[in-house]
Amino acid sequence: MIFNIENSINQQIYVPESYGVQLELKREDAIHEFVSGNKYRKLKYNLQEAKKQGSKTLLTFGGAFSNHIAAVAAAGALLDFKTIGVIRGEELQPHSNATLQFASQHGMKFMFVSREMYREKVEKHVIDQLKKEFGDFYLVPEGGTNGLAVKGCEEIITETDRDFHYLCCAVGTGGTISGIINSSGPNQKVIGFPALKGNFLQKDINNFVSKTNWELNTDYHFGGYAKINAELVTFINEFKKVNHIPLDPVYTGKMLYGIFDLINKGYFEKGSKILAIHTGGLQGVEGMNAKLKIKNLPIIE
Ligand SMILES: Cc1ncc(COP(=O)(O)O)c(C=O)c1O
Repeated sequence: MIFNIENSINQQIYVPESYGVQLELKREDAIHEFVSGNKYRKLKYNLQEAKKQGSKTLLTFGGAFSNHIAAVAAAGALLDFKTIGVIRGEELQPHSNATLQFASQHGMKFMFVSREMYREKVEKHVIDQLKKEFGDFYLVPEGGTNGLAVKGCEEIITETDRDFHYLCCAVGTGGTISGIINSSGPNQKVIGFPALKGNFLQKDINNFVSKTNWELNTDYHFGGYAKINAELVTFINEFKKVNHIPLDPVYTGKMLYGIFDLINKGYFEKGSKILAIHTGGLQGVEGMNAKLKIKNLPIIE
């Protein structure tokens, strides 16, 4: 078995008893070392579809530190697909950072494009150009989010999670939370913590869901995508010391910082049971630490 979904257990997180709430973390990050967390869920049905269509090559898009790029490269190497990453930033090279090096070592070929071309990446003229350059491919969207990805993410929450009152996850493109909303029960509330600024997400998520038992809390993006400060680093290090679970600085660290802040502010009623999803992303720690060192900030341990 390449992917171990039975490793995704719910683990108790320490919360002082006086708050009167219970917090557990679903360890989706433990499914696979490199195709971890929501990445496995989002790729599962897409890769089945790619095989069904007879595609030998996966092409996808991402930023320089993208967890999705690393996961597609690793999944391609495991399941015998060639992989192509169209990366935002024409100044970059395959060895610019740990994520790109990892993807390159797993066989991914890159096309580094300008921000302008990246914005037009799904338009016909760009796709035609990519086909001319690389031949036929199965296109996995940026962040991996599409209908098949949402279907995979619907499998994150299972029958045994029914007694949680709150389901929490980090949000990037909205695919993961959409799956969680679709499989949530009528008495459960889903809270998403966007890792980036902007209010386009509500609409994107509504493309995949029809339920209304969810909300986005936009207070914990720390200034935007991959923005970080010493307080967040300290929180991540403290969380690991207490719970022996590593968090990533772009998604899960911000989500759990937010959950603890909300617990502290009394947002959750006494007796609440909260389930947070560990969606992985740990491959990004090395690259973030390199940036933190340059800025003379504390690093993630
Ligand atoms: C570790 C991690 N958690 C959460 C997310 C957010 O997932 P989504 O893009 O489906 O909202 C991502 C990004 O895809 C991620 O890499």
